[in-house]
Amino acid sequence: MSLPESSSSKNPGFNTRAIHAGQAFEPRTGAVVPPVHFSSTYAQDGIGGLRDGYEYGRGTNPTRDSLQEQLAALEGGSAAFSFSSGLAAEDSMIRALTRPGDHIVLGNDAYGGTYRLISRVLGQWGIGNTPVDMSDLDAVASAVAAGGTADSTVEGGGKTRLVWVETPSNPMMKITDIEALAKVAHDAGALLVVDNTFASPYLQTPLALGADIVVHSTTKYIGGHSDVVGGAIVVNDPELAEKIGFVQFAVGAVSGPMDAFLTTRGLKTLGVRMDRHSDNAQAVAEWLLERPEVEAVLYPGLPSHPGHELARKQMKKFGGMISVQFKGGEAAARKVAESTSVFTLAESLGGIESLMNYPSEMTHASVKGTELAVPVNLVRLSCGIEDVEDLIADLDAALSSLGDGS
Ligand SMILES: Cc1ncc(COP(=O)(O)O)c(C=O)c1O
Repeated sequence: MSLPESSSSKNPGFNTRAIHAGQAFEPRTGAVVPPVHFSSTYAQDGIGGLRDGYEYGRGTNPTRDSLQEQLAALEGGSAAFSFSSGLAAEDSMIRALTRPGDHIVLGNDAYGGTYRLISRVLGQWGIGNTPVDMSDLDAVASAVAAGGTADSTVEGGGKTRLVWVETPSNPMMKITDIEALAKVAHDAGALLVVDNTFASPYLQTPLALGADIVVHSTTKYIGGHSDVVGGAIVVNDPELAEKIGFVQFAVGAVSGPMDAFLTTRGLKTLGVRMDRHSDNAQAVAEWLLERPEVEAVLYPGLPSHPGHELARKQMKKFGGMISVQFKGGEAAARKVAESTSVFTLAESLGGIESLMNYPSEMTHASVKGTELAVPVNLVRLSCGIEDVEDLIADLDAALSSLGDGS
């Protein structure tokens, strides 16, 4: 991490790292915010005479390097790689670490796009998969041991290379024990991948809990303002870094300079935003719990959530995401999703503005009819950082519109 030379802190805290890692001021002018480097290529002092290693923008770019340094410092990794989207990051990482015949064991409530990538794109290249309930460690161990034979999509497939978990998961909000899962994966010679999109490194640092690879859709909390699409991979092992770095360069699904800059700018305020997202979501979840229209509130900050104690152990706070199931079924969920005004009905999550999503027809439509299908009475809330009274008033109006039939 390169903190400014003036920093005397040997062990800087999260917010100090977020603001300073990779953000040293520009030496020529003293510009406090490093300039955005748009150049696609770099002058050479004679053939092969590179300045500071910069040669061509697909391989390296100073603005992308700043972001990668910042991401590595926040996740506690030795290297980070920034991509043009979360799925581009996942695709490049999987290509770097698997071969045809290999197998991935993933959560049976993984993000629909992740499952689509693994099953429908990489499946065609001979990568098998088994979706399993990640909170059931015995079931994970058996799926890993089966490693591409019994229940898998590839007959007689190869070895389980990756165990893949989202915690909290999208949108079922399940919490999985990262430390215990790392042991299950490592005992079988597999790597543990944690999609840390919902928690962000402010709330949870999977590498410190034994995970090998952290994945992010930086489109979400890391960017934080719903104005940039991106993805990242963070690792702590030089051999993994070398393999992933090679595919990042060879395939080239990298983030552009402006996207990297916007992501860096968002990331600087991650800590203050996550505190507020979490506090707002906690208040909204507690309010929802009391409503007669509601069948279930899925939020790890509620003591009634099955993963509450575990979340307290491995997360700093419980995050801004809530899923709600309605007694009135699909009709009630659809009506609520279409009746709010502060919560905007839209895909995505993690921005400062509150968003509402109906996963079974929106973010998770691609897994409809599979075992990853999302209940039709469920809406997902991404609680923004507006005034919480306004969020609750908005939901109050929407829920009240359901009437007695809920
Ligand atoms: C948990 C999770 N992982 C990965 C992704 C994919 O990221 P992107 O949309 O940036 O490609 C998403 C997108 O919604 C997500 O929610």
